[in-house]
Amino acid sequence: MVSDKKIRRMDDIIDEFRMRIKDADRKSVFADVFDDATLMALYELSRKGYIDALGGCFSTGKEANLFHAITKKDDISEIAVKIYLISTANFNAMKDYILGDPRFAGIKHSRKDIILAWTKKEFKNLKRAEESGVRVPKPYITKRNILLMEFIGKDGIPMPQLKDVELTHDEAESIFNRVVKYMSLLYSRAKLVHADLSEYNILVDVNTMEPVIIDMGQSVTTDHFNADAYLQRDVTNIARFFGKLNIQVNNEEMISIIKSNKEDIK
Ligand SMILES: Nc1ncnc2c1ncn2[C@@H]1O[C@H](COP(=O)(O)OP(=O)(O)O)[C@@H](O)[C@H]1O
Ligand SMILES: [Mg+2]
Repeated sequence: MVSDKKIRRMDDIIDEFRMRIKDADRKSVFADVFDDATLMALYELSRKGYIDALGGCFSTGKEANLFHAITKKDDISEIAVKIYLISTANFNAMKDYILGDPRFAGIKHSRKDIILAWTKKEFKNLKRAEESGVRVPKPYITKRNILLMEFIGKDGIPMPQLKDVELTHDEAESIFNRVVKYMSLLYSRAKLVHADLSEYNILVDVNTMEPVIIDMGQSVTTDHFNADAYLQRDVTNIARFFGKLNIQVNNEEMISIIKSNKEDIK
């Protein structure tokens, strides 16, 4: 039984978010994202102290929108709030990645259930990657279709995607080596294939020129029936990007390095 007081509090918080919506340019995006159930989940996260203030939207995609937020939890201050769209146009593509994953065997096939499982899947994938030594945004918590994670950036400005960073040859080479190392750690330790790796899903910390791997909702376990095909595609994307920067890559060699489970790759 929900008390009147709780309902009033909910109304207040919805009003508050709506007010912020009015302030933002991206009204239609907010209207899309904040269905009542998502608002409720955001409210719960703010009530528990995970979200102190919800800031602006810094990315709108086919599957999810990302917001900057401030939290008071522990020592963390800035976080990224990734909100998956329940009405995503890409729903059918998502199904292929999740239905072959033994970790999600037996989930219901409705749109909502797939999206909620997808959100949990990204959280788990990031966690496994992090535990295996791959630099990814540290995942904090998920609720419903919302994932909270470390914000890669500062003062609300995200670090750039690899595709937008101007690199010297040496920088490109060192980032390439690090990416191959991360792919290898993912494969051998985390037992995962990223499955959407490209210059779009790698951020560069411009202070250290180190790559950060992001966007792991679609990542699959190495025993997924399509894992090898996804690995091939990831390798092709990476080889194409770095090839343009005059770094010669042999795809087959790269795959054997990734699968070799050597701890001593540069
Ligand atoms: N944790 C993060 N910190 C900073 N920026 C991020 C973070 N996660 C994502 N981004 C930015 O938002 C964009 C979209 O996020 P992503 O997870 O790739 O979702 P999608 O590609 O499915 O829309 C990224 O390309 C990146 O620029
Ligand atoms: Mg992406």
